[in-house]
Amino acid sequence: MKLKNQTVVVVGGSSGMGLGIAEAVAKEGARVIIAARNLERCQQVASKIGSDTEARAIDMTSEEKVEEFFKVMGCIDHLLIPGSSVKTGPIKTTSTKDVLESIGSKFIGPLLCARYAKFSENASLTLFSGSLSRKPGTSSLLGAINAAVETLAKGLASELAPVRVNVISPGLTRDTNAFNGMPESAREEMFSAFAKKLPVGRVGSPRDFGQAAIFVTTCGFVNGAVIDVDGGGLLV
Ligand SMILES: NC(=O)c1ccc[n+]([C@@H]2O[C@H](COP(=O)([O-])OP(=O)(O)OC[C@H]3O[C@@H](n4cnc5c(N)ncnc54)[C@H](OP(=O)(O)O)[C@@H]3O)[C@@H](O)[C@H]2O)c1
Repeated sequence: MKLKNQTVVVVGGSSGMGLGIAEAVAKEGARVIIAARNLERCQQVASKIGSDTEARAIDMTSEEKVEEFFKVMGCIDHLLIPGSSVKTGPIKTTSTKDVLESIGSKFIGPLLCARYAKFSENASLTLFSGSLSRKPGTSSLLGAINAAVETLAKGLASELAPVRVNVISPGLTRDTNAFNGMPESAREEMFSAFAKKLPVGRVGSPRDFGQAAIFVTTCGFVNGAVIDVDGGGLLV
């Protein structure tokens, strides 16, 4: 019960890594707020997790909604933001509208949350990037957004002190909504081919991020860090 009597807000807690995090922090005794755009989906997962779990709607791309959300929330002990929705691809073919929306969702959204959230003593804020920040390959746009998130967090660790601000940088992870656009067979082939390259021999799962969330919320000396949860993906 490492998080007993603590309020943990997970923006993007209704699926993928966010859901893994919500389940893990609930097991550690936290009062959990699952927030995302689709309130019904948040309510469904909150009712499965248990009694001290609530659902709230937020759209991080709207400053007004972010401000209102945190006004109603009051003081938070830990805020984790795995939520984002990006439409990225090669810069030659990705429309400027999609570029701006992706930056809005994954970079400006967390920045607005950091601006409006009210934190208690010993609080933490955790943002999410991705290993493309340091290994962009041909994903220049998403790589740059992830790198911006990592630099933002390091700056915020000074600006928002004593709130600890860290980043979890995921590698390829299954059982999320990220690859829903792909046919299942192609998706499984991608996971299995990538797993063979990784030192741990498997891709990530939402549970891995639950464990990382417990570490980053409970270790009071981790601050301004980028924690790679990628099975060693940056090494290969
Ligand atoms: N999956 C991977 O392999 C992978 C690899 C590297 C990095 N990452 C990064 O890790 C993070 C988590 O990824 P995931 O794959 O677990 O995500 P996911 O399954 O796609 O879930 C995204 C969550 O964010 C919410 N969301 C989306 N846009 C939002 C907005 N504007 N405001 C509030 N909530 C919003 C979604 O719910 P609603 O749609 O209802 O809002 C959902 O709860 C993301 O930042 C992703 O870029 C993922």
